[in-house]
Amino acid sequence: MHVKENSLIKATAPSNIALVKYWGKRNRALNLPLTSSLSLTLRSLWSEATVEESSSGQDEWEITGDPSKAQRVLEEARTFTGDRRPLRISIENFFPSGAGLASSASSMAAFAKALAKFLGEGTTSLDEMARWSRLGSGSSVRSLLPGYVLWEAGREADGSDCIVSQAFPPEHFPLSLVVCVVNDKPKPIGSTAAMERCRDTSPNYQAFHDRNSFDLERALSAIKNRNLQGLADVAESNCLAMHDVMHQANPPVNYFLEGTHKSISLTRELRASGVPCFFSIDAGPNVKIFCPPEHHQSVVDACNTLTELVDILEDPYKPPTS
Ligand code: PMV
Repeated sequence: MHVKENSLIKATAPSNIALVKYWGKRNRALNLPLTSSLSLTLRSLWSEATVEESSSGQDEWEITGDPSKAQRVLEEARTFTGDRRPLRISIENFFPSGAGLASSASSMAAFAKALAKFLGEGTTSLDEMARWSRLGSGSSVRSLLPGYVLWEAGREADGSDCIVSQAFPPEHFPLSLVVCVVNDKPKPIGSTAAMERCRDTSPNYQAFHDRNSFDLERALSAIKNRNLQGLADVAESNCLAMHDVMHQANPPVNYFLEGTHKSISLTRELRASGVPCFFSIDAGPNVKIFCPPEHHQSVVDACNTLTELVDILEDPYKPPTS
């Protein structure tokens, strides 16, 4: 008889930041996106999940915040593998949680990887792992791969063609990231509720999704040609269009704070002064500034002049090790 893995299993996954954003679902229960998105997987902002059999006869959780997302991932993994042993689970983020820094993406991806090793005994396919992870956080599927990652919306009702793939390896167009942390507290409204309010009340919601394929094409071609200005144009305008959808919702969803506006202006000033860089902002006030690795320190130095920031996080480019 084959005895299943019983020792503690660990898995990690980094966060990812979308260059062409996901901001709407075509199926809420399955967390299927309305349109495709494209991101860059980070290196130094990451989560770790550990899984082992629980001796108490029931699941034991050690997780910051609400475990309901992780419970959905676990239920899907159990249904697929048929392994319903009670588990002791811990999920830890090594950066601020719930502040628009995509901690749910890295934590759900790390958890799906740990479950794939423990329940799936390492034979689970990427598509299957992504299906588990997606139920916890849609954008987490992009954290399962390094580099520039495409998450395709697909059209099938069951999500079978909603898949994730690497568009370019990180070394094709190395980019560093500096995060201007304006506020590291959990955001006032979660992304699912905010997306639904936008769908129901924002006049720009459809227009944002209509521009998706054009933005994706432009972003992919800019990355392919290592064209920073081209990528800056599309990433910034796509991000601002997403926030415009939010600002026009009723009541408005406004994640921006004073420091957000200052960080946007700083990025524009830096670029005008010859430092190639661009910003992106997710469901939170913090501003992520991308730049080629050789300009990383100039961006950090400039961010240090902003008095509104509570912290500066650095995610320098690291060449892949293998
Ligand atoms: O995956 P969620 O539910 O955390 O939504 C993520 C939404 C954004 O971060 C704002 C955009 C994106 O594509 O990552």
